[in-house]
Amino acid sequence: MKYDFDRVVSRKNTDCAKWDGALSLFGDADVIPMWVADMDLPIAKPITEAIKKRADHEIYGYSLPNPKSVTDAIVNRMQDRYGWRVRPEWIVFTPGIVPALYAAIKAYTHPGDEVILQDPVYHPFWHAIKNNGCHVVNNQLVLHNGRYEMDFSGLETAFAIRHGRPPTRHRIRLMLLCSPHNPVGRVWKKEELIRAGEIAIRHNAIIVSDEVHGELLLPGAIHTPFATVSEEFEQHSITCISPSKTFNLAGLDASAIIIPNPGLRKQFQEARKGILPGINVFGFVAMEAAYRHGDGWLEQFLVYLHGNYEFLFDYIVKKIPKIKIIPPEGTYLVWLDCRELGFNPVDLRSFMAKEAKVGLDEGYLFGPGGEGFMRMNIACPRSVLAEALKRIENAVKNL
Ligand SMILES: Cc1ncc(COP(=O)(O)O)c(C=O)c1O
Repeated sequence: MKYDFDRVVSRKNTDCAKWDGALSLFGDADVIPMWVADMDLPIAKPITEAIKKRADHEIYGYSLPNPKSVTDAIVNRMQDRYGWRVRPEWIVFTPGIVPALYAAIKAYTHPGDEVILQDPVYHPFWHAIKNNGCHVVNNQLVLHNGRYEMDFSGLETAFAIRHGRPPTRHRIRLMLLCSPHNPVGRVWKKEELIRAGEIAIRHNAIIVSDEVHGELLLPGAIHTPFATVSEEFEQHSITCISPSKTFNLAGLDASAIIIPNPGLRKQFQEARKGILPGINVFGFVAMEAAYRHGDGWLEQFLVYLHGNYEFLFDYIVKKIPKIKIIPPEGTYLVWLDCRELGFNPVDLRSFMAKEAKVGLDEGYLFGPGGEGFMRMNIACPRSVLAEALKRIENAVKNL
């Protein structure tokens, strides 16, 4: 079936974080919210139908922790998309990826240990590390000719200078990888993953690869799951996947963590006990329907997303040239370099919200290196994107 992504569906008064939360977040109910990562677009019909069918059953008691049909859907998807042979027992279901990150850090570190990340990065990474009593080692990404790259020598140094310490506490145990990378939109190339992974593994770190954006690709980009690089990579990593971003199901809290190494899997399961439940009945149903029957919708969505990106690119280049776009390779989040506007980071946020009346995520939220940037979510009808750009253009003109 053909989906009409131009249709504007109001999300107001649905307890929607993005729209109904705009007043408390931006101090103005009239902002166009383009911050949190969900879509203002209707989802794939087979998912809605599957949820309705399950609702008709009228009993919503506890689910099995790992239903066979959902597990099979994931196994098949990993095989079809990446040629990755995931064994059913490797899959651990969690109600969201962020709680799984917390469980992973709890499982694989002791308080006082260090965890590597590469800023600017999805900010809950920071909180997950700190709230588990660990320290962040920030190997900041490098912006080179308008494109972000990993700093491999920085990564090597970060591990090496800690290597001489006694192998007790306070060492780097983990690397959190955001792949594809939110907010800078990079879809890491296999060679980049190999270089980063080899360094981390050589220093005995476990890699937690958050691949929630792995199916949201712009033309030309190829996503390589970290674990598919080699058996060694598979055994030293855990991979977080979910249909939540790809199929716009974030409110259903359904994720899967693929943990091939039995020891790491056992530690993860121990760490989650009692604090991290399984997935709710509707989350499972939606996940299975998305993975089995959602690809017709996804194909159309990716075409629409690319159209939105081209529209944004054209508009900004022609009419708001002081803002520079970091071209994304994946995700529906665009990282905008607003440094030429001349604001300090806090005033920039306020300018966008109060003068332009567009609610973006402020770059500094994503850690060092994010100052002066803003993140814009373009998963919305094109007319909404056009209105937001017009507002920014006018506000910039009035400066
Ligand atoms: C990289 C990344 N990981 C995880 C999440 C959120 O995952 P969940 O809602 O499943 O906790 C997001 C949401 O934007 C994200 O960008």
